[in-house]
Amino acid sequence: MNRTDRLFGLTDQYRAKNFQPLPVMATEARGVWVETVDGTKFLDMISGYGALNQGHCHPRIVEALKLQASRSALLSDAIYNDQQGRLYERLSALTQKDLVFLANTGAEAVEAAVKAARRWGYRVKKVPSGSAEILVSEGNFHGRTTTAISFSTDDLVKADFGPYTPGFRSVPFGDLDALKGAITPNTVAFLTEPIQGKGIRVAPTGFLRDALSVCRQNEVLFVADEVQTGLGRTGKRFCCDWEDVEPDIYILGKALGGGIYPVSAVAANAEILGLLEPGSHGTTYGANALACAVAFASLDVVEREGLAQRALELGTYFLDRLRGLRSAVIREVRGLGLFIGLELTSAVEPYCENLRARGILCKGAGMNTIRLTPPLVITRDELNWALEQLSKALV
Ligand SMILES: Cc1ncc(COP(=O)(O)O)c(C=O)c1O
Repeated sequence: MNRTDRLFGLTDQYRAKNFQPLPVMATEARGVWVETVDGTKFLDMISGYGALNQGHCHPRIVEALKLQASRSALLSDAIYNDQQGRLYERLSALTQKDLVFLANTGAEAVEAAVKAARRWGYRVKKVPSGSAEILVSEGNFHGRTTTAISFSTDDLVKADFGPYTPGFRSVPFGDLDALKGAITPNTVAFLTEPIQGKGIRVAPTGFLRDALSVCRQNEVLFVADEVQTGLGRTGKRFCCDWEDVEPDIYILGKALGGGIYPVSAVAANAEILGLLEPGSHGTTYGANALACAVAFASLDVVEREGLAQRALELGTYFLDRLRGLRSAVIREVRGLGLFIGLELTSAVEPYCENLRARGILCKGAGMNTIRLTPPLVITRDELNWALEQLSKALV
């Protein structure tokens, strides 16, 4: 048995089977490329489900990690650390919000946003105690906590994990009339991804802007989960920028940690986040010095390397070329920037397998859609190479 097979055997013997990895045993990764134990190289079109905007092991972020790890890491929220201030300031400037809460995973940031919205509902909107409602979009993905799966409409992620957290109702994604019709006096927030990661579903043009104005008219908070769509992925700072929408609450994660260390955030004005008084919420590793140093460097890379602009230019080119592919199996090409879904006429697995044989790592985003979300540092040459493989595999 060779080393790769031994590693597959060891891993599969002991791991919970809650996910089904592709049969690729990675050992190193740089930029857009992943290398396996036996030396095979793949171009990574999964990129940590959209977390690797800056590419694998970006030297600037690795350097920040090393430097900070040699100075201090977890000091706890019982004391301040010298890395927090500049990150809070930077995230506040980026989101144009007064305050920022830092956590680790995207799901935790969603939790924090839900709690902050409910608090605001009770204390500012004066919704009767215990009756706050949050509207969400059908087909959403906001993480794996019991609360996040409670308002999922996907049976795979929620079956037999109940009882579920009450207080959520879903409306069809991108349906303004349904949103209007669902709002009641107890509705405190509308929580949505600007583009849904599952299926890479894009709302009709104008939906985000109109949804914001419906929220404003009804004293409902607009909460944008930009965990995956934020920090340049769709060709703008945030996906909401496409429609000049300033949500009341931003939820960020994934690329905020540069694909190196988990960092997530909630940003909102003081009348919302200011309601989380000492002791009301927190997480042990949140805002630790190492996380703050990594997140600061990750934001630096996004800005210095103009990754949003890069995603816009290369994404427009890639989308154009994908739409021009002559393939009987492609039903639709959707997306913005480098957040792209290829809907096929049948299940994606055999096509993903074919692409893997040609050196591309990709996965389905739902049954019939291949997700194409490369690191934003990808070059035009690398995209052209990927296009060549796609044109050969999707026949
Ligand atoms: C939009 C969105 N929100 C939240 C999450 C959860 O993030 P995490 O897996 O870091 O908990 C994800 C993860 O894919 C996501 O895409």
